[in-house]
Amino acid sequence: MTQDEMKLAVAQAAVAYIQPKLSRDSIVGVGTGSTANFFIDELAKIKSLFEAAVASSEATAERLRSHGIEVYDMNSVDQMEVYVDGADEFDGRLNLIKGGGAALTREKIVADVAKEFVCIVDETKKVDLLGGFPLPVEVIPMARSQVARELVKLDCMPVYRDGVVTDNGNVILDLHGLEIEQPEALETQINNIVGVVTNGLFARRGANVVLMGTPEGVETLT
Ligand code: 5RP
Repeated sequence: MTQDEMKLAVAQAAVAYIQPKLSRDSIVGVGTGSTANFFIDELAKIKSLFEAAVASSEATAERLRSHGIEVYDMNSVDQMEVYVDGADEFDGRLNLIKGGGAALTREKIVADVAKEFVCIVDETKKVDLLGGFPLPVEVIPMARSQVARELVKLDCMPVYRDGVVTDNGNVILDLHGLEIEQPEALETQINNIVGVVTNGLFARRGANVVLMGTPEGVETLT
């Protein structure tokens, strides 16, 4: 089974998982990335069963609209049944690293509103200890150098993601060399640096369930 076949399988499993929770007035939060794209294409098949979606990026909004799914502005939504998104890494406690696609801030905002966060991954994303995937940090452009100096104090190497500007007009520093023993504490510590918008650790609000694609089928982890 290829990685794409595993992504398609988890996308289909995610639609089957959320379908019984949806009603005609439900809002579905939708993440960003290649796995989320498979999900969007599957979600389109049940678009008559819910009201609208909220997108975690401009790219996702465009793909949802291309399927005829209405996309609501986050500010007009005060409750959301479910948020479905991929991840770059996850651990046994369903803490995540996200932001490989630079959409981490909007992803975190949408996830925060949702009653349930369903994370869809293939088995290559599972780790014992987070940090092998460089941790993305979204930063206000004028603070980039100062934030990088502060981040070096955490015993890691911040690398500027050259040429990338987020949907919010900011830049990304990727933190290499971290071994993240305490994800919640590190998430808070990095977010407290002046000039940081947010970082890609989803530990304070991790996933509620992970649907993991394997060559043998989809596993549900809680
Ligand atoms: C985007 C993300 C994605 O969820 C993450 O990068 C996983 O992407 P993919 O499904 O393409 O592997 O956090 O900011």
